[in-house]
Amino acid sequence: SNKSTSNLRSPVICVMGHVDTGKTKILDKIRHTNVQDGEAGGITQQIGATNIPVNAILDQTKMVKDRKNIQIPGLLVIDTPGHESFSNLRSRGSSNCDMAILVVDIMHGLEPQTIESINMLKKRKTPFIVALNKVDRLYEWKSQPKMDITNCIALQKKNVINELTEKVNGIIVQFAEQGLNVKLYYENEDTKHWISMVPTSAISGDGMGNLMALVVQFCQTVLLKRLMYSEQLQCNVLEVKAIQGLGTTIDVILTNGRLKYGDTIIVPGVEGPIVTHVKGLLMPEPMKELRVKNPYTKFNEVRAAQGIKIIAKDLDKAMAGASLLVANQEDEINICKAEIQAE
Ligand code: GTP
Ligand code: MG
Ligand code: NA
Repeated sequence: SNKSTSNLRSPVICVMGHVDTGKTKILDKIRHTNVQDGEAGGITQQIGATNIPVNAILDQTKMVKDRKNIQIPGLLVIDTPGHESFSNLRSRGSSNCDMAILVVDIMHGLEPQTIESINMLKKRKTPFIVALNKVDRLYEWKSQPKMDITNCIALQKKNVINELTEKVNGIIVQFAEQGLNVKLYYENEDTKHWISMVPTSAISGDGMGNLMALVVQFCQTVLLKRLMYSEQLQCNVLEVKAIQGLGTTIDVILTNGRLKYGDTIIVPGVEGPIVTHVKGLLMPEPMKELRVKNPYTKFNEVRAAQGIKIIAKDLDKAMAGASLLVANQEDEINICKAEIQAE
């Protein structure tokens, strides 16, 4: 492979948006899973992470016109809740991502938590693209999930195209009210300054390949430099969870660097930093959700970017939402503790 890009890590992509716009369903469609069906009240209440490897991306973007080569090793996708009461989880989930997918229900347009998400993304200068989801809800929409979305749209009846245009134009105005310039991706020639939108259906699959291809393309152009793998550890605690048989574990996003069995880690805690040792690094299979009980595989070492469940002693008072550090030598422990306390 091309030497200049062979050391790229997977981008961390956060999926955000108002409740019930279809964030989890979009990931279910990509993963061939049914996570959403198992959620209490159909509502996401935790942050999740899923590794989508290159072979899955290749397989699911076959229909995309002018598809580019894939240089990144995959996508690490973070699912967040859209319900208004989980603002802290949206903030945590999006705090360390490279880019976001903002999901908008095409029939509803911008909603309160869409706007809240936009403001979080703006604050951290996180770039994003927009999935205009539930396009299958347009009256008389004909699904063609094996086609490029532009070909699928071209085959729709005139009244369907009119309704689509009307919805899209309304949403463009709503984004403009938030100070943002958005365009349908196939009309967008300046992806650095204009935000791209893609119509999708998580149920029928329309536009899903185009959505994935757009994310990959954005990463490989605008974000390329940022995605050069670095040994400098960048690791964030997503969730603290008691698991039967394992005790209290932490789910982390490892964005750069590596974690090894036996590493001395310093973890943020409600009563101050916790110093402990990695007793296990667990990951689900690719295409499986970290937050759902799946068979995990144990690793001796994991290199970024990955979502990992860490087993270690004394994690009962660990705190989600902050950085995890590794002390390579005894005398680094106090420095790490001070660093975590200062955060
Ligand atoms: P929260 O995580 O709770 O914020 O919701 P979410 O954004 O993850 O949405 P979810 O995946 O739970 O989907 C909400 C509802 O919309 C479910 O009943 C889905 O079946 C439905 N849905 C999602 N995507 C589509 C779509 O593309 N078309 C149609 N018709 N229904 C959809
Ligand atoms: Mg969800
Ligand atoms: Na939901």
